[in-house]
Amino acid sequence: MGSRKAGLSGRRVLLVVGAGVAAYKALELARLFRRRGAGVRGVLTPAATQFVTPLSLAALTGEEVFSELFSLTRESRIGHIELSREADLVVVAPATADLLAKMANGLCDDLASTLLLATDKRILVAPAMNLRMWAHPATRRNVERLARDGVSFVGPDAGAMACGEWGLGRMAEPSAIFEAAAKLLEGDTTLPPPEGAMSAARPLAGRRAIVTAGPTHEPIDPVRVIANRSSGRQGYAIAAALAQAGAEVTLVSGPTALESPAGVGIVRVETARQMQAAVEAALPADIFVGAAAVADWRPAAEAGHKMKRGGAKEATLTLVVNPDILAGIGTRKKGRPKVVVGFAAETEKLLEHGRRKLVAKGCNLILANDVGAASGVFGGARNRVRAISADGVEEWPEATKDEVAMRLVARIVELLERAP
Ligand code: C5P
Repeated sequence: MGSRKAGLSGRRVLLVVGAGVAAYKALELARLFRRRGAGVRGVLTPAATQFVTPLSLAALTGEEVFSELFSLTRESRIGHIELSREADLVVVAPATADLLAKMANGLCDDLASTLLLATDKRILVAPAMNLRMWAHPATRRNVERLARDGVSFVGPDAGAMACGEWGLGRMAEPSAIFEAAAKLLEGDTTLPPPEGAMSAARPLAGRRAIVTAGPTHEPIDPVRVIANRSSGRQGYAIAAALAQAGAEVTLVSGPTALESPAGVGIVRVETARQMQAAVEAALPADIFVGAAAVADWRPAAEAGHKMKRGGAKEATLTLVVNPDILAGIGTRKKGRPKVVVGFAAETEKLLEHGRRKLVAKGCNLILANDVGAASGVFGGARNRVRAISADGVEEWPEATKDEVAMRLVARIVELLERAP
């Protein structure tokens, strides 16, 4: 930190504060810069003044704070071009979806967006928004465009949001923004390559993932199958969320009524053995998520023709056990994906069964859910899971399957970072 102080004294930061609940953290960020000797000029978007007052920011920076574009008296003293000229680095924190959209498209209708367009200085943005706004294709496009333009990103993080939800979109902590800014300010100021900036938005870029989803159908004869009530929705949502985070995804799906998610390679199969073969063929991978409801048993032999009732009152079906695809992947000696996630769909003793499966199937994480008829999970849009890992048991609140998928992706990112 000592070197940071020496490195930052005399450097100037133009701190643009967007209108988000995280705006209060911009005050802490301003304090960190000041403590390390950097000068901070604060600019608030008009709406940001609803979240923090110009007065608090002025008190912490020790400088006049700017907000409106057209202030004749101010413009004659210090204009928007001057604001950018006097800075060594522009930091946007929090960067709202709106501000990112403006920046990506070159729109400017207030002082903050005008000086972001007028500046020729490096820009570091710390996005902060609701998880669905962050995941929206429009925001993804804007982030990609900004990254290509050379804008640097820090965060967002996964975590609890002010709106009561959980996911990717929380602003990075002030200390992390400060560190990222200090690196840019400290001499080695070459812009990070676009891919580097993109990694914040696409934390799984360069990773390969395989997801199984849906039921399997095990033929009894040419017209009858043993099936189950899995809709495939949770697995499809996970495949989509992994792809959105930048992973190259192969979705191995049993028979479902769902369309394949955008940007995901899909292999459609019917039986457990076909699913296993398709998974093996898709290896190697960094991530495996077994979300399929694989039939445990299959008829020992498939009748060549439709079985006839004849006069029989009873018929006996001999079943043989199917391969356990997840256990096969989780316990591989060679080429095991770094993160293996399984599901434990149970109707009783959720945690007990979940913990046992974590070990028996060699998983890093088991998502245990109650699929009893009353839960409405099979076929439904919502899910309530408990995440069981070596770290213990986390209770995830009931949420849509898309939200569970996003939360799982954030957890997978964490597990990958820790993986040897
Ligand atoms: O043992 P159980 O079927 O409850 O285990 C559920 C987990 O194991 C799920 O992740 C499921 O996809 C996976 N599984 C599998 N192959 C099987 C049975 C289950 O991959 N034959």
